[in-house]
Amino acid sequence: MEKLLINGGKPLKGEVMISGAKNAAVAIIPATLLVNGVCRIENVPDISDVDSIVKMITSLGAKVEREGINTLIIDSTQLKTYVADPELAVKMRASYYLMGALVGRFKNAHVPPPGGCNFGVRPIDQHLKAFKYLNCSVTTDDDFVKIDGSSLSGGNVYFDVVSVGATINAILAAVLAPGRTVLESAAKEPHVVDLANFLNSMGAQIKGAGTDVIKITGVPSLKGGTYSIIPDQIEAGTYMFAAAATRGDVVVKNVIPKHLEAITAKFLEMGLGVDEGDEEVRIYAKGPLTAINIKTMPYPGFPTDLQPQAVIMLATVNGTSIVTEGVWESRFQYVEQLAKMYDKISVDGKRAIIKGGAPLVPAKVTATDLRAGASMVIAALACNGTTEVDGLRHIDRGYEHIVEKFAALGADIQRVDD
Ligand code: UD1
Repeated sequence: MEKLLINGGKPLKGEVMISGAKNAAVAIIPATLLVNGVCRIENVPDISDVDSIVKMITSLGAKVEREGINTLIIDSTQLKTYVADPELAVKMRASYYLMGALVGRFKNAHVPPPGGCNFGVRPIDQHLKAFKYLNCSVTTDDDFVKIDGSSLSGGNVYFDVVSVGATINAILAAVLAPGRTVLESAAKEPHVVDLANFLNSMGAQIKGAGTDVIKITGVPSLKGGTYSIIPDQIEAGTYMFAAAATRGDVVVKNVIPKHLEAITAKFLEMGLGVDEGDEEVRIYAKGPLTAINIKTMPYPGFPTDLQPQAVIMLATVNGTSIVTEGVWESRFQYVEQLAKMYDKISVDGKRAIIKGGAPLVPAKVTATDLRAGASMVIAALACNGTTEVDGLRHIDRGYEHIVEKFAALGADIQRVDD
């Protein structure tokens, strides 16, 4: 089994290049199923979630070629089925995007219920509601969600909760549906906007992405073209928290600073140095830090996918900080694992209370999900002594070249096989 050996306790220093956004890539790759032509997608991160979604569309008949490590050439003109492979689908949450993409393409979709990180109950009722209001009929059995889109056409959807996945699925189903669709209470995350920009560049008519009302006028077909994925907000935030936790000085490059404002605001509140450039943000320690409170919220709020990284960073700050989870029912399970390194974090329902400032202790820890894994790497980087992190399959789902990137910042980190 592979693991990371991290001998921490040194401030990170230098520059790190941020890769393309995972959550945009796993939406845009299935969106190519709607395109009647060849798509060239650039800035695709080299991560296992991308490999999984590529395998899924390949099993449907798409032809996918790689050019270098970060460009995919996708030709979905010869798809052969609207039935997704159950064995592949359970491996990742984003397999649910095949529902919207296949119903848009074939007016029919059979897709297994999705897998992915376990943060408690992960319902898809809002996705199914959107399909119904787009005049599809939806049935489920043990193996598949079956969407009959023979009457697919534009409609009004009012979401009861702000859901990234349901918003993206509704967009995918609506772009080729005749008539006009209005999505209200839509998610505003950067990857929702990126998906809309991709589809618009291929001929779709989507307006309002990035606000909570998205209006789509169905078009008869989409044409091929070239598109470059936005930088990963969460990967950038992870390196920013690692820089902060080690009291380092790191320039995080190839980012869209606007996407990072909820994070930089918290860093300024703590007393960290933050310098914003056009496409970069420098984070540096410049004196003692103060404990703060954070609540995760849908964009433009503080992202839930940076909650575990924030919790461990706050463990390095003197005083009591409170982090409240405002998106997922249950996203603090990893604290039990983290307690091997820092046992002064208590969880009370949706709140973690962090008594910061005591030393972290090196330990053997297991990444329990993708972002919890990132928080364990940050804990190890901030801790004197050698920590072992296993469960790397979770980390590999979403972080491109994580060992090389941290090593280039001066970290003593290696990947070893037992
Ligand atoms: C996406 C991200 C994930 C991130 C999350 C919130 C991808 C591949 N994953 O997940 O990393 O943590 O956004 O930013 O982009 N909900 C319902 N009914 C639904 C759908 C969602 O009640 O039909 C609830 C969920 O239980 C959760 C909240 O809405 O409490 C947000 O979920 P959602 O935005 O849908 O998350 P995902 O799209 O699955």
